[in-house]
Amino acid sequence: MSGVLDSIASAVGGTPLVRIRNVGRHLAGAGVRLHAKLELFNPGGSVKDRAALQMIRDALADGRLKPGGALIDSTSGNTGVAYAMLGAALGVQVHLVMPSNVTPARKHVVRAYGAVLHESDPMEGSDGAIRQVRAMVAEHPDRYFYPDQYSNPSNPLAHYLGTGQEIWEQTGGEVTHFVCGIGTSGTIMGTRRRLKELSKEIQVVAVEPEEPMHGLEGLKHMPTSIVPAIYDEAALDEKLSISTDQGWDMAERLCAEEGLPVGHSSGAAMAGALEVAERLASRGERGVVVTLFPDRADRYFAAPPPRRPA
Ligand SMILES: Cc1ncc(COP(=O)(O)O)c(C=O)c1O
Repeated sequence: MSGVLDSIASAVGGTPLVRIRNVGRHLAGAGVRLHAKLELFNPGGSVKDRAALQMIRDALADGRLKPGGALIDSTSGNTGVAYAMLGAALGVQVHLVMPSNVTPARKHVVRAYGAVLHESDPMEGSDGAIRQVRAMVAEHPDRYFYPDQYSNPSNPLAHYLGTGQEIWEQTGGEVTHFVCGIGTSGTIMGTRRRLKELSKEIQVVAVEPEEPMHGLEGLKHMPTSIVPAIYDEAALDEKLSISTDQGWDMAERLCAEEGLPVGHSSGAAMAGALEVAERLASRGERGVVVTLFPDRADRYFAAPPPRRPA
């Protein structure tokens, strides 16, 4: 039947690109346009739906994951929600390892989708969750399919096939700069590869937290982290450091001034994009600066306790 999706998995991708007018109002008339890709429109509420779907599809296709089999991974939260949602829709059992200090709302959401949650040491952050998954897989190698989003080429492939191509089409090929946060780096690596294929002139700028201990959930401070195997710093044109305060302040402004209730990593990405746009304007150069907002603000709101304790 036309107009009916096969499952919620078919609603992943194809997110809107929106003009950012107000937080950059001081640049009006400067010949620089700002746009943001709204990944909160994915059915799981974040950019990670794309990577999770590609990793599950590719593993089902080549037999690493059997129908009805189990998947395990570590996650800062959004990938967990994506796996849990897609697992429910596609019949895959999902096990997740998260630092125990992620918001209660995150835990409730993945459990509501039927995922099994294993909590890791909050002091060890996302690297501690990775270590715990590796130990569990080493102990039971036949029990789990471990996508390992940090080294799985299907993660950037999702953005090569989707995000990069979409940005090109949505800007009518006019994009000049792509500014994006780095977590696993799947988004920036895959989008970069497609955009550079379409035009070598496009500048790709990474946004990184300024401090090792930061409050920009989803982003990694690379110099002090386990570097993801899919990450290639040499492929980037530039890297900008953004502080936690800059990211949080900008996330509040995006909600209040643009009507975009986005998370803190989106605020950081916007702060980076604004820096790039201001630099272009100060040199009298034209540009179409595209950034990407990975998720939405309500992911970070406290939730009431669940009706039935898990
Ligand atoms: C909120 C948020 N922002 C940014 C990112 C970074 O995206 P990527 O892992 O593709 O680098 C993530 C990834 O988990 C995230 O959850």
